[in-house]
Amino acid sequence: MEIPAALMKPRIFSGMQPTGELHIGNYLGALRNWARIQYDYEPIFCIVDQHAITVRQDPKTLRESCEKVAALYLAAGLDPAHSAVFVQSQISAHVELAWIFTCTVPFGWLGRMTQFKAKTLQAGGNQDSIGTGLFLYPVLMAADILLYQAKLVPVGDDQSQHMELTRNIAARFNKLYGRTFEIPATKLPMVGARIMGLDDPTRKMSKSANAPNHSISLLDPPGRVRKKIGRAKTDSQPGVNWENPGAGVSNLLTIFQAFSDWSDERMSLHFPDMRYGALKKEVTEMVNAKLEPIQRRFAELMDNRDYLRGVLRGSAARVAPIAEETVRQAKKRTGLYSL
Ligand code: TYM
Repeated sequence: MEIPAALMKPRIFSGMQPTGELHIGNYLGALRNWARIQYDYEPIFCIVDQHAITVRQDPKTLRESCEKVAALYLAAGLDPAHSAVFVQSQISAHVELAWIFTCTVPFGWLGRMTQFKAKTLQAGGNQDSIGTGLFLYPVLMAADILLYQAKLVPVGDDQSQHMELTRNIAARFNKLYGRTFEIPATKLPMVGARIMGLDDPTRKMSKSANAPNHSISLLDPPGRVRKKIGRAKTDSQPGVNWENPGAGVSNLLTIFQAFSDWSDERMSLHFPDMRYGALKKEVTEMVNAKLEPIQRRFAELMDNRDYLRGVLRGSAARVAPIAEETVRQAKKRTGLYSL
């Protein structure tokens, strides 16, 4: 029996790359939000290993990372009885649709993507050392989202430009071939949409930065968290200047507020003029208290690989028909041959 459209919850889709260890930016900007809103939607969460190989990965580590990220998704609260959790490369429709989009997206649109420009710069601008996949990366991301006709995509602030491109790709295809795709909106968390590096609060916390005190991994033990926060950059003032905190202090306050869920008012009563040593102690205790249950559950799940693989297999089987139907339509619209 078909469920009446009015009773169906809007679909959401999001994903993370299984590269390096997930950090508190990934958690506060995306993962925690997913867990919180999952029951209000029809949720699909992906581990995007095909995005990961746009830069070189060790094959064995990549495979292991997919299961680690799946375990972290569940440990952070995704309910596999409700949320689909699967690995991108398990469903070949992603690359099929990405190719169709590749043929409709103007070159210039991709060249303007700031993440591509930043990564090219990191490689010293040497085009011979940059994979074409890095250039096409946002097209695959658009395919991920549009395949499932997602209405909403919960992500951190750094994905906003890719989301804009996704909407443009959908609108362009709809205009050229007739309405095929839902135009998705971006959903950012209220607090924590952009967590900055502890060592350099002018730069976003990122998995690829390899400075030792840059980010806090979701799997860091309490002592390491204490050490990293202890070394976090503040400024030369003696304590929290509430009206005008520097970037480092502001980042620590954001991390505290995001983890604690304290209101703005409660924050404003507690922190003004607090010495930096005390601030760092409070942030450390809050972060460690929130990471502890995630780490415990993660360890249990990693000890139960059969269960984890069952979730990945079952979810992929559940959502593949949605993706296959979209690709079928896109192929038909573009005139690709079928018997
Ligand atoms: P990725 O793997 O870099 O990051 C995963 C999620 O974490 C968020 N995030 C942050 N949020 C707050 N502060 C930070 N410092 C921070 N760093 C990362 C990201 O915004 C993201 O939500 N292109 C995507 C992966 C992707 C995707 C998709 C996402 C592929 N296909 C389809 C949504 C829908 C990426 O590289 O995320």
